[in-house]
Amino acid sequence: MQAETSERNDFKQLIHRFSNAARTYDLHDTMHRDVALRLVEQIEYSGARPKRILDAGCGTGILSQLVHARFPEARLDAVDVAAEMVRVARQKFPPASDWLRCIECDIRDFRSHEPYDLIVSSSALHWIFPHLGVLEHLLTQLQPGGQLLVSIMNAGTLAELHQLRMAIAPDTAPARRLPEHDDWVADLQGMPGIRLRAFRFAHRVPYESAAHMLRVLNQQGVTGGPFSRGPRPLRRQELRRLTERYDALHGDARGGVFGTYDISLFDIRKIVS
Ligand SMILES: C[S@@+](CC[C@H](N)C(=O)[O-])C[C@H]1O[C@@H](n2cnc3c(N)ncnc32)[C@H](O)[C@@H]1O
Repeated sequence: MQAETSERNDFKQLIHRFSNAARTYDLHDTMHRDVALRLVEQIEYSGARPKRILDAGCGTGILSQLVHARFPEARLDAVDVAAEMVRVARQKFPPASDWLRCIECDIRDFRSHEPYDLIVSSSALHWIFPHLGVLEHLLTQLQPGGQLLVSIMNAGTLAELHQLRMAIAPDTAPARRLPEHDDWVADLQGMPGIRLRAFRFAHRVPYESAAHMLRVLNQQGVTGGPFSRGPRPLRRQELRRLTERYDALHGDARGGVFGTYDISLFDIRKIVS
């Protein structure tokens, strides 16, 4: 009961955070764009010719735009639970595009009257619980032989930041950890009716400084959730020590810093039975 209430509160906060971040999300979109590009490359590599596409957790539409550019003939449904994200995504496309629907909906409740031949999702599914339940649900929206391509952030994401924070303020450990790549793979391999190709890559993103990195994360709505919020906030002095040490330890040749993202890409085929 208590766990249910806390999950409901987390979900409400998530919607609020991402809606609030919608207008600033694209200001520093390098990482999300690069990850989305990898997904599109994987679609191209697999030789797919999709006619109906779903983008699950579309955010501001970064992946939707790339997929549309590659498959302009396909119908595209872009779904996100955060109203402002959906609004920003919609504005990126010409008005009255009859091939496009931007839909505000919890993807766990989203059902289409007609199955998709391609479902994509970038940097979103690790936010949605239970993770496997969401993937199973998406598979029900896919036609036999269809392809589900997702990228997900793993536990090693921003490990440099997490390690420093634990050294400086060990009593602020976040409520949840992002899953490990191997756990996803083990779970997916146990799923009937699919063929899986799993990839993992590290992506280094440059920032001007640690303070800039924290600001960007905040502008993208990814701070304050269960993967970063601890039992208490960092004190001002702890935050200062964190950014100073980060700048000293993770500086790069340009005079900035980098943050590392640990990313899984899963290419899942629904087997024709
Ligand atoms: C980090 S953003 C990624 C957005 C986009 N796919 C990209 O690559 O930039 C995660 C998105 O997932 C959305 N999201 C989280 N939980 C969701 C849910 N249950 N249903 C639909 N969207 C959800 C958030 O609102 C947010 O826009």
